[in-house]
Amino acid sequence: MKEQVKSKQRVADHGEVFTSEREVNAMLDLVKQETERIDSRFLEPACGTGNFLTEILRRKLQVMEKKYRRSQLDFERNLVSAISSIYGIDILEDNVIACCQRLFEIADERYTAIFKKKAKDDVRTVLRFILSKNIIWGDALDLKTVGAEPHQIIFSEWSFPLHNSLIKRRDFVFAELLPDESKKTRQPDLFSKPELVSDLGEKVFLPTETHSYPLVHFLKIGEELVE
Ligand SMILES: C[S@@+](CC[C@H](N)C(=O)[O-])C[C@H]1O[C@@H](n2cnc3c(N)ncnc32)[C@H](O)[C@@H]1O
Repeated sequence: MKEQVKSKQRVADHGEVFTSEREVNAMLDLVKQETERIDSRFLEPACGTGNFLTEILRRKLQVMEKKYRRSQLDFERNLVSAISSIYGIDILEDNVIACCQRLFEIADERYTAIFKKKAKDDVRTVLRFILSKNIIWGDALDLKTVGAEPHQIIFSEWSFPLHNSLIKRRDFVFAELLPDESKKTRQPDLFSKPELVSDLGEKVFLPTETHSYPLVHFLKIGEELVE
């Protein structure tokens, strides 16, 4: 997105000034290695139309293209992994829609350019489904969704625990992932777990999942639309 301001009103109401490409790249270069790791997780809590998230996806795609362009299945699994590790929140619905669309188009453009007619609609459905879960119309300050029935923001963790085509989804309440907030929302005994300590003697923070889904083939994820 080239223009940095959509309207004076939006700047006044929501501080909406988009970051320029040059600044985005300079900031991402500070964590360059992470931006080039296909499954590294990024959350942008005020993502706008996705100036940071789209650049992260582009960087991941470059790595994937080099490594997996000769194996469609490996490329598809890694494409799902890359998209599923990108998270965003924005308080304005049109930004959320634009962000999902931009991320989808960037992924689809590369996928289609590499595999042409062999590119599958099933993969596109999965990408759209994951984006609909990961890019949230919400308020990152009160940690709730925006819209008709606001509720706690839930994020899904997606992983390939067996390193094959099976994907695992686990849902977490966002507030529980933030140690300070979790103190406010966690019910003391009901969810408390024995305290774990790492080899270095640091407390290990283990959030409680709200839902754990069965392992499924990654192309079947979209079928969870009915939950
Ligand atoms: C300064 S812009 C930055 C957008 C994007 N991160 C970028 O760099 O291009 C701030 C964004 O935060 C969003 N925003 C403002 N208050 C918010 C809140 N409480 N929760 C989530 N998003 C919010 C605005 O809609 C706007 O898109």
